[in-house]
Amino acid sequence: PKRIGVLTAGGDSPGLNAAIRGLGKAVIGHHGMEMIGFRDGIRGLAEDRTVPLDRAALSGILTIGGTILGTSRDKVHRMEIDGEVVDARDRIAETYERHGLECLVLLGGGGTAKNAKRLADAGLNVLHLPKTIDNDVAMTDSTFGFATALEIATDAIDRLHSTAHSHHRIILAEIMGHRAGWLALGSGIAGGADVVLLPEIPYTLESVAGTIEARSAAGSRFSVIAVAEGARNTAQAAEVEAAVALKDSAKSPEAQRAARNHLAHVLDTHREHTFGLARELEAATGLESRVSILGYIQRGGTPCAADRLLATRIGTAAADLIADGEYGVMVADRGTTTVPVPLAEVAGKLKTVPLDHSWLRTARMVGTGLGD
Ligand code: F6P
Repeated sequence: PKRIGVLTAGGDSPGLNAAIRGLGKAVIGHHGMEMIGFRDGIRGLAEDRTVPLDRAALSGILTIGGTILGTSRDKVHRMEIDGEVVDARDRIAETYERHGLECLVLLGGGGTAKNAKRLADAGLNVLHLPKTIDNDVAMTDSTFGFATALEIATDAIDRLHSTAHSHHRIILAEIMGHRAGWLALGSGIAGGADVVLLPEIPYTLESVAGTIEARSAAGSRFSVIAVAEGARNTAQAAEVEAAVALKDSAKSPEAQRAARNHLAHVLDTHREHTFGLARELEAATGLESRVSILGYIQRGGTPCAADRLLATRIGTAAADLIADGEYGVMVADRGTTTVPVPLAEVAGKLKTVPLDHSWLRTARMVGTGLGD
């Protein structure tokens, strides 16, 4: 029988196990193939660390958070192995041959789409199944993990309301999303945050403080602010933009390395930006300010029903593509169905919140400040 390999890469996301199960049940039970897993994402693939995925291994994992395979954030073309940075594509191709794989299925986000494309270009049959709580993968309606994280972040905003109200405080809830603000915007609307700050819309202190002061003047002496991890004020956003432009224009490998380090340094100086904003707001409004970092709670635990459904749909659709021998694509969620999208149209692209997106208008219509 044909044998397929599967791995999970990048940050974990609720629904990964549901997708592995959907894929496995369909390829084994429906199409009569075999499946093996690679541990810890691209790293286990390069190091040839496998785990058998038979029917028994797929049983009972639907509701479990995280990934039974483990994950890592490695890149196929630049991996540290035994203290050396190497291009791992040849070793990966050898692993692929050694196991006689018909194809490799990579479950991951934007970084994984790029890795999948690199492996497809190297001649491997690959499929990419999009997952991330950030919902920032291009060309797919949504990614599994997002719906669960949306529930968790919304619940947090709900809970922060009563304590902010009781203490007459500003509470800033820092929500994941380093480049895209879908989670902060979605939970901010669903949880009724007073201000939502996104990476896509650089904010000014005056605007945020203005929204809070208007609330105070109207008798509401507390506010809850949903801050995306990647939100920046206008000065910080300009700094990041300049560092990214430098990185994109760097030609020589040395210049590229220096530019990557510079960008990492700039981002590092912004790491505590939510705390900085809290201090500035306290000074500007006279209201005590506190920060709650939601952090990894947003990624952990059992997937909600919508994510289990989406992950199972995407996993089983991948099995059908394998049966048809259609590779080099991402299995995208599109309305009530799934469609294969060429990896070239996905890799390196990011789905941020468009400035004319209806959710932004929705937020403004209910009086949510967006900091601009
Ligand atoms: O990509 C998903 C994500 O949750 C981002 O929102 C966040 O910035 C990042 O992962 C952090 O993950 P880690 O600390 O695991 O690299």
